[in-house]
Amino acid sequence: CMVREYKFNVVMKNATRLCSTKPIVTVNGNFPGPTIVAREDDTVLVKVVNHVKYNVSIHWHGVRQLRTGWADGPAYITQCPIQPGRNYIYNFTLTGQRGTLWWHAHILWLRATVHGAIVILPKRGVPYPFPKPHKEVTVLLSEWWKSDVEAVINEALKSGSAPNVSDAHTINGHPGPLSSCPSQGGFKLPVESGKTYMLRLINAALNEELFFKIAGHKLTVVEVDAAYVKPFKTETVLIAPGQTTNVLLSAAHATGKYLVAASPFLDTPAILVDNKTATATVHYSGTLGSTATTLTVPPPRNATPVAANFTASLRSLNSKKYPARVPLKIDHSLFFTIGLGINPCATCVNGSRVVADINNVTFVMPTISLLQAHFFKIGGVFTDDFPGNPPVTYNFTGTQPANFQTNNGTRIYRLPYNSTVQLVLQDTGMIAPENHPLHLHGFNFFEVGRGLGNFNSKKDPKKFNLVDPVERNTIGVPSGGWTAIRFRADNPGVWFMHCHLEVHTTWGLKMAFIVDNGKGPNESLLPPPSDLPKC
Ligand code: C2O
Repeated sequence: CMVREYKFNVVMKNATRLCSTKPIVTVNGNFPGPTIVAREDDTVLVKVVNHVKYNVSIHWHGVRQLRTGWADGPAYITQCPIQPGRNYIYNFTLTGQRGTLWWHAHILWLRATVHGAIVILPKRGVPYPFPKPHKEVTVLLSEWWKSDVEAVINEALKSGSAPNVSDAHTINGHPGPLSSCPSQGGFKLPVESGKTYMLRLINAALNEELFFKIAGHKLTVVEVDAAYVKPFKTETVLIAPGQTTNVLLSAAHATGKYLVAASPFLDTPAILVDNKTATATVHYSGTLGSTATTLTVPPPRNATPVAANFTASLRSLNSKKYPARVPLKIDHSLFFTIGLGINPCATCVNGSRVVADINNVTFVMPTISLLQAHFFKIGGVFTDDFPGNPPVTYNFTGTQPANFQTNNGTRIYRLPYNSTVQLVLQDTGMIAPENHPLHLHGFNFFEVGRGLGNFNSKKDPKKFNLVDPVERNTIGVPSGGWTAIRFRADNPGVWFMHCHLEVHTTWGLKMAFIVDNGKGPNESLLPPPSDLPKC
């Protein structure tokens, strides 16, 4: 195994998109940021140097961080942020994972421009469980605001109202040839007829699940969230913020220029109407330099059946070499309602503001990191009484319940080492049913079931897939529905779980698990590195 060293200088840089220029926070002056390439079992050292006026922290999304929670990155959860002029070395090993993951800033909304890919190649000499592609290409999907993103969120926090929606989606940093600024062009993917390409898709957008489609081509899905799946063909990929998806693209045509489209999926009553499709071009050799001639129509933003079909096709590869280790015996059966609510707010225009919650708890960020409080036994930072079940009875089918008041708290749920968890995530639709891509740090979990309406604790578990459920780190909870996940708490530390729609995280749709140390020699959290940032 190797040690891979990177230096991330966080610097301001002018960027021009949608025909206007603004300074953005970047890593090494690049948007999207640099790609980390390593092999399974390699150790990665990233020295992050903060040259900007904002506090910074970087999260390695989907990297399990076995016993190395100090390198996980969410500000005030596993570390204090890296202050202006300071630096911190993230040091972690890529144990038992291969595929596509990504990294992003994990403090307020900085991740809008501070993100990049992590490519984990299999160990040397170990092939993919599918034919080796001719080339591999990272395709990062994201969003672009014309105004300063930190100003957008700070304004929303002050007023208590929803922040502005973005002005464009992007593919590898560009809104593309069909945007309001076509002269700026877009991402171009050159292909040779007869060859197969692996696209490493990443949804780095802040607030929208996306459909991804290429005109005239079907895509074969082979991996999600750095776990292999049973390959299947699809016209459209659904990818939620935080998720990654590897697809094979066969360049089966002789020639031509084909449109690539990334468009929002928002299975929500029209609160956020946002139909800005990002575009790019696949062009066969000899057709360089001109725009797509074969177009594609992306699914409409409410194309729930397209989304449901895609999700239902996902299965773990579950081969001899890559077995799906689904926990069969469950120690902790948890039920979390997730959704939006209302909180009083003295400084807000209407005396109240929209908040988000899990089991009626609107999570309040502490002022030192939970991991430090846990490791050094500092009292008064959190309470370990996060409710394992909803304290209020709701109708989960989308009707607004009588009580949608939430309570503020920095509450965590404690798990003994190696215990097993089943967690049902139920969208409550307290204000309106909404999509929620829930991300759990520190683990991969299995999605054993999903459905619409109320979870039925008698009937639904009988239909669970305990054989080859998809394994991932971020799951799209269906709007007005539920999903059930299982994982083994084999990673001691503090692990954040939150909606990966940044607006919902900001509003409080987040909580944390604490996994206590085990008794064995390799079952405890390692001590913090000496350069751990101070608050
Ligand atoms: Cu990709 Cu806690 O985030």
